[in-house]
Amino acid sequence: MNVQEKIKKIEEQIEAAVADVKSSKTLLDLKLRFLGKTGEISALLKNMRDIPPEQRPQMGKLLNALRQWTEEKFDKLESGLKQLELKARYSQEKIDVTMPANITEDGAYHPNTLIRNELISIFSGMGFEIFEGPEIENDYYNFTALNTPKDHPARDMQDTFYLAEDLLLRTQTSAGQIRVMEKKQPPIKILSPGKVYRSDDDATHSPMFSQMEGLVVDKGITLCDLKGMLDEFARKIFGGAVKTRLRPSYFPFTEPSVEVDVSCFECGGNGCRLCKGTGWIEVLGAGMVNRHVLEGCGIDADEYTGFAFGMGIERIAMLKYGINNMKLLFEGDTRFLKQFKD
Ligand code: DAH
Repeated sequence: MNVQEKIKKIEEQIEAAVADVKSSKTLLDLKLRFLGKTGEISALLKNMRDIPPEQRPQMGKLLNALRQWTEEKFDKLESGLKQLELKARYSQEKIDVTMPANITEDGAYHPNTLIRNELISIFSGMGFEIFEGPEIENDYYNFTALNTPKDHPARDMQDTFYLAEDLLLRTQTSAGQIRVMEKKQPPIKILSPGKVYRSDDDATHSPMFSQMEGLVVDKGITLCDLKGMLDEFARKIFGGAVKTRLRPSYFPFTEPSVEVDVSCFECGGNGCRLCKGTGWIEVLGAGMVNRHVLEGCGIDADEYTGFAFGMGIERIAMLKYGINNMKLLFEGDTRFLKQFKD
């Protein structure tokens, strides 16, 4: 076969192959086959050596023309293919902006979490540190060290879930006071949030609920310090006009013990349904730490005094948000929880 025939054959092959090309990928294979370094046209160019010198310029022209013709053919094909492929991609990626959107529901903080966070922020602003004790306690921390030995009638104030002879679900975060005081000498200023458990179940009681305990021990701490701190706390959580009042009460681990009321933030103290017409709402228990408790933890009760307080987080949440049934706080009904989105 002479060169002219070879050129003709290549042209025919290219025409036939091009008619079959459906994608840029197969076009690339074709390019390599004919125009690549080891491709068929390059092979012809290499063979020029074997041609008699007087024929070479003529052959060179023919081969260059063939190469140019091939390149143009491929280029034209390529731009056509690119456009087709782009079109196909666009139609595949088409987005129908009129379709209804997928609505994802935002979460919201549980009212308990809102109140706990608010309390932590108020008290840490006053210099309290957070301490979290265990939910499974032994009798010593939950009762005995809190001046409530085995035969003490005050044990009946809390219906306890026992896990074993000496092991129970803590009934009060007050247990944490002991854990802190036996490890650390005053000054002590801690806040202890957590879950507590009692065999109790009605519209205002749940077998599991949350408390927030506070403890301050230092030289010269008095009931006035407690009252001042409570005033500040009540104003911050219930509003600037709220006042506090202390009523005598009894807890084994405090002496004197008090029940703390706030003036009704709903009616301003005139009497309404929330405060049952009294103008006052009970919010927490508190008192001066009983010297037996201090001494039991190795703290010199002649040198140091302290106050403690404990409140139910659900109770504060119910008061603040006007929730009338505690069950709502535990059922996880999103129609209820949605209302607490900021
Ligand atoms: N632990 C008490 C209870 O669960 C609440 C309490 C009262 C805590 C007086 C205190 C306190 O720290 O001083 O009913």
